[in-house]
Amino acid sequence: MGKVILDISMSLDGFIAGLNDNQEQPLGANGEIIHEWLFSGDQPSRYNDFFRLSSINKEVFDGSIPDIGAMVVGRRTFDIVNGWGGSHPIQGIPIFIVTHEAPENYLENHTSFTFVTDGIKSAIEQANKAANGKNISIGAASIAQQCVQAKLLDEMHLHISPILLGNGIRLFDQIGQEHIKLESKEVVDGSDVVHVKYKILY
Ligand SMILES: NC(=O)c1ccc[n+]([C@@H]2O[C@H](COP(=O)([O-])OP(=O)(O)OC[C@H]3O[C@@H](n4cnc5c(N)ncnc54)[C@H](OP(=O)(O)O)[C@@H]3O)[C@@H](O)[C@H]2O)c1
Repeated sequence: MGKVILDISMSLDGFIAGLNDNQEQPLGANGEIIHEWLFSGDQPSRYNDFFRLSSINKEVFDGSIPDIGAMVVGRRTFDIVNGWGGSHPIQGIPIFIVTHEAPENYLENHTSFTFVTDGIKSAIEQANKAANGKNISIGAASIAQQCVQAKLLDEMHLHISPILLGNGIRLFDQIGQEHIKLESKEVVDGSDVVHVKYKILY
């Protein structure tokens, strides 16, 4: 089985989006700075020139993609980005969306979507089959929290942006009462972002 990895951008004070996230402002009030590192450089990503990165940020971003075999996200993320218009910016990777009820209509162009209505464990199992030995990348707060609680998460790859957002959607909320030790695997001082990798020691 590949690893289950939380790969997400966040503010230094732990928010992955500001308040009032919606389709007009997917990362909420003042939240766009969390993703600024993806667009503030002059080098296109090898996988989609929509992303314009500095050379150090490109190394980190492009370097992570070949190892991803599937993604798992929550329904709010899917709805807020309007299902990526049917094509996630990184194409060719199947996406599993955890939800209470699959939508009746949605666009599916270059990305395969599977709606999982029987919980996070099932979503990870299904993603694992599709990933065929590669890693499963998870995104969004609720999915990360459930994976931590169920001890399904192996690593966290965090991209920490230089802002104290103050409020919004907190990544490390509802992760239980027990402390969780981490092992630092890598720290890269990027441009306007710090990339850190941790292994989770349950
Ligand atoms: N900073 C970043 O890099 C980054 C990356 C991705 C997303 N985001 C942001 O993260 C925010 C969304 O994250 P979020 O944590 O609020 O929401 P989310 O994880 O995207 O979605 C939560 C929703 O998923 C469904 N769900 C989750 N677990 C479930 C379960 N076990 N069983 C059934 N349904 C389940 C529920 O929706 P239903 O009840 O409707 O089915 C739930 O309300 C957005 O602002 C998005 O833009 C940020």
